[in-house]
Amino acid sequence: MDSDHHSQLRAADNAHVWHPFTAMSAYTSEEAPIITHAEGFSLFDSQGKKYLDGHSSLWCNIHGHRVPELDAALTSQIERVAHSTLLGIANSSSIELAEELVALSPPGLTRVFYTDCGAAGVEAALKIAWQYHRQKAHSEDRRLFACLEQSYHGDTVGAVSVGGIDVFHSLFGGMTFPALKLPTPARASTRGREFLPLETILAKTEQLLDQQRDQLAAVIVEPLVQAAAGVLVHPPGYLQALRTMTAERGILLIADEIAVGFGRTGKMLACEHEKVAPDLLVLSKGLTGGYLPLAATLATEEIFQCFSGEPWQGRTFYHGHTYTGNPLACAVALASIRRMRTKNVLSNACEIESCLRQRIQRWQSSKPAWLQHVHQIRHLGTMMAIDLVHRSEPVTPYPAELRAGHQVTLACRKRGIIQRNIGDSVILYPAPAMPVDLVEELLDGLEESLAEVTSRLQTLKSAGRTQSSEHSVKNME
Ligand SMILES: Cc1ncc(COP(=O)(O)O)c(C=O)c1O
Repeated sequence: MDSDHHSQLRAADNAHVWHPFTAMSAYTSEEAPIITHAEGFSLFDSQGKKYLDGHSSLWCNIHGHRVPELDAALTSQIERVAHSTLLGIANSSSIELAEELVALSPPGLTRVFYTDCGAAGVEAALKIAWQYHRQKAHSEDRRLFACLEQSYHGDTVGAVSVGGIDVFHSLFGGMTFPALKLPTPARASTRGREFLPLETILAKTEQLLDQQRDQLAAVIVEPLVQAAAGVLVHPPGYLQALRTMTAERGILLIADEIAVGFGRTGKMLACEHEKVAPDLLVLSKGLTGGYLPLAATLATEEIFQCFSGEPWQGRTFYHGHTYTGNPLACAVALASIRRMRTKNVLSNACEIESCLRQRIQRWQSSKPAWLQHVHQIRHLGTMMAIDLVHRSEPVTPYPAELRAGHQVTLACRKRGIIQRNIGDSVILYPAPAMPVDLVEELLDGLEESLAEVTSRLQTLKSAGRTQSSEHSVKNME
């Protein structure tokens, strides 16, 4: 692209595009890459610079970009039909995908309700749970949902209501419905959580569920990893215990696998690790291999049957979207799931996991200088977070105004790596099919960026150019 065209795009972006989860005042001066094309696991910007995609284009890319099988599935579908509704009629690719999703999901989930993004899939799950209790054989007026502290389930109003990340959610308190907060079993992060043993967490959870036993419609959980909270990893056994507790109390369990499904944990779905079958399962992001927006909410036959009756009885689920079950998205999702099998993507994800583990071990034994500024490193499967702090003993966060995590994002970009921090947690989220040598490249670039930024911030600090202030929860970028 010539430089005039690039400058025009830059000016138009700054003038018109409102970027999500982005501090726009800082963004407009940052010359962020304008992506124009991609190849394999790399993205290219309007000035021809190449970047390794270290966050799977926001945690959804599975096989890389411009994958021949996925491109072919889209072209072949577009030659037949791009869109046709699911309201009252069917389309062939959404049927074939539903069969595939039922086959790969935990036992008992037999029905697939399509929406078009993660938050919409969560909204559908919440409304299905609400209506189910009213229409089941011994109808109950259960009005409460429970979620975990620091949970994230999307940005629509229902999804925000079951969210627990203050900086994203507290402002909207007045427009959301109240939800019961259960303690997260994840270990402490920079955001200062106390570490409690699993038994204590489970006892507290049981007590809270008992207090609202007859009111609770469902508990929603991100199985194994709370990704948007900064890859908070749950200890083994938690998910299964939560499944047992909810089942014993007639409370539905909604598993939100939007961020952890499709290979991120080394298995197709995270629930498989603990052989847990939820009542409702929400899939999105990696569902289409990262090609198109699509979500699916799977339900058990028992739940589905509570919605059946004569059309005039009003038991129908009156919910849906214009692009529900879009044939292009379903066709590419089918191709992506099949390719995960033919290319052994899950075993590659396990190799990525051991590559991350080995690198972390190497850091721990070689103790590079930047490690003094790390409070905690967490990882599971292809997901990793590094919490940066000014000092790790005692834990002293960087002042919010330094935007330490964001500085690492910018330093990575300079080295041709795209990743995204969440506050001062630096996150790597490579695609499950990324070859291990590219993951090593990501880690090399990340290491250099961490060294550069922590030493620069140290210099600023010793020159007295920053004031030590309380870590601000507002610093999430
Ligand atoms: C666990 C989880 N649930 C829901 C969502 C929302 O998905 P979407 O952004 O597609 O609405 C996300 C997005 O990051 C997520 O991580």
